[in-house]
Amino acid sequence: MHDEKPFFMREPWRYDPQAKAGKGRDAGLGFDTRALHSGFHPLENPLQFRSFVPPMIQSMTYPYESFERFPDYIYGRSKTPTVSVLEERLAALEGGEGCVTASSGSQALFSLVFTIARPGDNVVTSLNIFGEGYKQAAAIFPERCGVEFRFVKDSTDIQAWASKIDQRTKLVWVETPSNPCLFVTDIAAVAEVAHAHGVPLVVDNTTATAALQKPMELGADIVLLSLTKFLSGNASVLGGAVVGPEALVEDIRWNTTEFVGAILQPFEAWLMLQYLETLSMRMERHSSNSQKVAEFLASHPRVTHVNYPGLAGHPGHALAQRQMKANGGLLSFIVPGGMEGAAKVMNSVRLVVHAVTFGTSRTICMHPRTITHEHMTPEERAEAGIDDGLIRLSVGLEDPDDIIADLDQALGKL
Ligand SMILES: Cc1ncc(COP(=O)(O)O)c(C=O)c1O
Repeated sequence: MHDEKPFFMREPWRYDPQAKAGKGRDAGLGFDTRALHSGFHPLENPLQFRSFVPPMIQSMTYPYESFERFPDYIYGRSKTPTVSVLEERLAALEGGEGCVTASSGSQALFSLVFTIARPGDNVVTSLNIFGEGYKQAAAIFPERCGVEFRFVKDSTDIQAWASKIDQRTKLVWVETPSNPCLFVTDIAAVAEVAHAHGVPLVVDNTTATAALQKPMELGADIVLLSLTKFLSGNASVLGGAVVGPEALVEDIRWNTTEFVGAILQPFEAWLMLQYLETLSMRMERHSSNSQKVAEFLASHPRVTHVNYPGLAGHPGHALAQRQMKANGGLLSFIVPGGMEGAAKVMNSVRLVVHAVTFGTSRTICMHPRTITHEHMTPEERAEAGIDDGLIRLSVGLEDPDDIIADLDQALGKL
């Protein structure tokens, strides 16, 4: 008789508030050791794969040993060996039971919601979310899948989260610190409210990464990641991941990813394994450089406002110091003159590159009003802090004085 394939069109994964979360792989090892070793030990592999570097296996199908037995790896739409090493490593870094990767961070969000929500269900979130996430929440899911997204107005008001949750809430979704306004949400407090209503909490940990913030230790059940940003660190990979209970990630893998092919490719996974080795050192430098740049911008006469959790005046400063190890590499600031002012500064930078992404080793600027949050209504933009003059800055690993000098001369053009 044939083995059964692991999952097939069962009921979607359901959160069980009584279930004890698994500790995560290699929980006894330090973060940096996990970033280098989890998921791959050369001596535990067959002789031909005993390389020091995890091998990049570019095969999309895997031979059957016999008619009766499914191989561990079947076909590239479900899982492949190099990608599995990366999934184990990401699970280990976040402290989750399992991980499923995706072709992008946006796809990871889509696959998560698409797998567990059905028409009539809802997701509770806020407007402090990345642009493509907002587009999925405001239009794609409600209009095409009948899944409603409810936006909490004031994310600091924990009761506001509670008031949006009902019997059909499948997920509470928080992004902290948020892109692009660096809004900081209290993970432990929102987790408590979600759990009191029997609902799991997903935290998007893309901007902080596990090197700076551990949502699962603070009560989150699921972590959403774009691998495209700080986790890779140089804009050479597009990828995403969901870390969470084994049963959830396998539901996503076998009942969504496998059917639609929204996978991460082996080469991207292999590159990611190299990049993760330096994650915590990079995040330390991104954070210290950002602090210097944020302080410079905050004292600049032509800057009206700076969003960076490392600044004492940031509304989430105290919370960020509690729930993060450092303040990260992303900030945003407002220049006078609205869109025209932003255009003048962005057209004047020389070292800083004007491009869409963040988390790169080179400093990048981007205009959220026209590039990522253009579909928000004017009221929503006002609520989310997306001013016409807002510039997002992903502070890179250059000498901070050079970044500051470039911004200074660009601001001088205003
Ligand atoms: C916080 C956050 N999560 C997820 C994503 C989606 O990432 P990707 O570009 O890999 O789809 C982004 C993209 O900007 C983001 O800012």
